[in-house]
Amino acid sequence: MGIKQAIKVENLNKHFGEGDTFVDVIKEASFEINKGELVALIAPSGAGKTTLLMMIGCLEEPNSGKIWLGDELVYHDKWLTKETRKIRREKLGFIFQAHYLVPFLNIIDNITLVPQANGVEEKITKEKARELLKYFDIAEKEKAMPSQLSGGQNQRVAIARALANNPQIILADEPTAALDMQRSVDVVKMLKQIATQQDVAIIMVTHDDRMLEYCDRIMKIEDKACVFE
Ligand SMILES: Nc1ncnc2c1ncn2[C@@H]1O[C@H](COP(=O)(O)OP(=O)(O)OP(=O)(O)O)[C@@H](O)[C@H]1O
Ligand SMILES: [Mg+2]
Repeated sequence: MGIKQAIKVENLNKHFGEGDTFVDVIKEASFEINKGELVALIAPSGAGKTTLLMMIGCLEEPNSGKIWLGDELVYHDKWLTKETRKIRREKLGFIFQAHYLVPFLNIIDNITLVPQANGVEEKITKEKARELLKYFDIAEKEKAMPSQLSGGQNQRVAIARALANNPQIILADEPTAALDMQRSVDVVKMLKQIATQQDVAIIMVTHDDRMLEYCDRIMKIEDKACVFE
């Protein structure tokens, strides 16, 4: 049997700036998240939610501490690999506040981009992408460009893209911000289903209390540390 831990953080610290511009964001954060868990991350604006996800996602360098992704220690006071991009590509799916679809690729090519870069056959990546687009009710948009879709449709494509890769960990920064209530609930329920069925760990930032009942645990940032409710 494999290990249960998907994300482990120990004594993680992050500040920005120096002198007059110094801001302490995360101080001595320690926690573990298991495979199969959907964890909500809630805290006021500016508390460090995005910064925390970016550090776990190997996109923002901490100042000190440790980060494990699965059983791999990826950060110990420095990145332990030069290839943080490889870790992102192989282990992580991202859904950002601003969805960052590639503007000059059509919808289906946006979704198949990462799995194809990972060497998965085009036939398989296209099949998976079409299944996801159908699920999100935008199957007819596969040839459209991101600029031709509404904000909510683009958000759904961004979620589909994060799933295309079958990642072990999904980091979602307000994935339902641009969606109506019913679609938000659908998306969160679907994230929970993915977590359970595919043994994926998901951290989801949300400002919507109505989504919390679908999550397994609620993590907060309090006094710059991470605590579970
Ligand atoms: N690149 C940066 N340089 C300097 N300060 C930064 C940088 N990124 C974030 N910060 C600061 O770090 C703090 C945490 O920001 P962060 O974006 O993580 O907050 P958040 O909890 O995601 O907020 P929101 O709910 O508004 O998205 C803020 O004070 C912010 O100004
Ligand atoms: Mg944020």
